[in-house]
Amino acid sequence: MAEVLGIGPVIAALHAIESGDASEEHFTTVGDDWDIEERTRAQLDRLGLEDVPLDRRLHTLSGGQVISLGLAAQLLKRPDVLLLDEPTNNLDLEARHKLYGVLEDWNGCLLLVSHDRALLDRMDRIAELGRGELRFHGGNFTAYEEAVRAAQEVAEKNVRNAEQEVKREKREMQQARERADRRASTAARNLKNAGLARIVAGGLKRSAQESAGRSNETHAARVSEARARLDEAGRALRDEQKISLELPGTNVPAGRTLFLGERMQVRYGERALFAGDGVDLTIRGPERIALLGPNGAGKSTLLRLINGDLEPEGGQVKRAAGRVAYLSQRLDLLDLDRTVAENLAVSAPGLPEAQRMNLLARFLFRGARVHLPVGVLSGGERLRATLACVLFAEPAPQLMLLDEPTNNLDLVSVGQLESALGAYQGAFVVVSHDERFLTDIRVHRWLRLSEGRLLETSPPDVD
Ligand SMILES: Nc1ncnc2c1ncn2[C@@H]1O[C@H](COP(=O)(O)OP(=O)(O)OP(=O)(O)O)[C@@H](O)[C@H]1O
Ligand SMILES: [Mg+2]
Repeated sequence: MAEVLGIGPVIAALHAIESGDASEEHFTTVGDDWDIEERTRAQLDRLGLEDVPLDRRLHTLSGGQVISLGLAAQLLKRPDVLLLDEPTNNLDLEARHKLYGVLEDWNGCLLLVSHDRALLDRMDRIAELGRGELRFHGGNFTAYEEAVRAAQEVAEKNVRNAEQEVKREKREMQQARERADRRASTAARNLKNAGLARIVAGGLKRSAQESAGRSNETHAARVSEARARLDEAGRALRDEQKISLELPGTNVPAGRTLFLGERMQVRYGERALFAGDGVDLTIRGPERIALLGPNGAGKSTLLRLINGDLEPEGGQVKRAAGRVAYLSQRLDLLDLDRTVAENLAVSAPGLPEAQRMNLLARFLFRGARVHLPVGVLSGGERLRATLACVLFAEPAPQLMLLDEPTNNLDLVSVGQLESALGAYQGAFVVVSHDERFLTDIRVHRWLRLSEGRLLETSPPDVD
């Protein structure tokens, strides 16, 4: 950890000086940072890492701990500008509020990317990046949403008006044509009756045709102008791209025991993660379970026990035959060197190519993007690719384990994931700090893991 924090060399130099080595280079390394250990400890404590010693290895930290550590590392450098990319992903409510507090006290310039509404509501300005443009809105996220909603209403009205205008112009063009036709045939009749010389009649006819032609051109131009205005009005409308999901059907008989764990115990070094004799958990039938608990409580560890990546050191477990789909918090399921399409081909080999492409399109991978290696994808894209592979791997899963599935998803896609999970018939265990999401996916069993104990709990109050 000291290395991640960038303070490894300073600490080594301090220790050398303390043990009596007074060489010049140690003093140079330390510079003004005599209090680095105290400052570091204080910073870590403020971010909720008070129980984590500085010599812990990074891969042993929980998802939330890694995020808090990263932030501490940046703050310790005392920068003028702080850039944060999704800083509250993986953080529990308490850690989130600690982060809000730390950022509140931060005096420098802060630029962050986030889908966390509560965090965005603490910002002075919102910048929106889309369609190759960066647009600034004064005020916080609520003000921004309000402005977007108002602009969308105006845009919708403009589109409706522009549509009406196109219709009207077309109608007028049609009417003008009909009038011109009528005039032309009356004129022809009159001319015939008047018995004018052919040459005069021909001239009159030509000029009538020319004026009809001009009128026709004017109307056509007006129709195409109206169409152009409609296009423009349409461009001002937002069309948000959504993942559209329909999960493969699974039916799990109500009485079937999918997982049975008794007195499960996991030990990390000296420390027993679960209290007493360990924790018990039974998953029976198509249960929809939410697993709550603070960062570092052992939620990811419990999912790994259920999935069979990890065997308990004490107690016993029984896992039913049948597929379990596991979306890990670190999104490390996919092969980074292979493309999105190749990864899906590995997960769902029985699916015909055309259907795989179709499926990827529903996860918003279209055209050349399906042939990008997973390693270059953005966080949100990587999640979408992983979701596609996990959810549609064959055979259809009877149990899904989802560790923080909404991290990195934009709000619209969260809605889609909600409706897909809403329709899923199998069992799931979802870890999430997003209580609204949990309520919306119709969780009916709530478990809380805290201080080494796993307890049934009641649903949180969500307004
Ligand atoms: N290999 C390991 N060695 C030592 N400690 C570990 C190891 N793996 C996990 N831990 C510790 O065990 C605890 C539980 O970790 P786990 O990842 O299960 O927590 P979590 O509840 O999923 O937390 P989060 O909400 O932050 O994702 C944490 O304190 C973590 O630092
Ligand atoms: Mg975790």
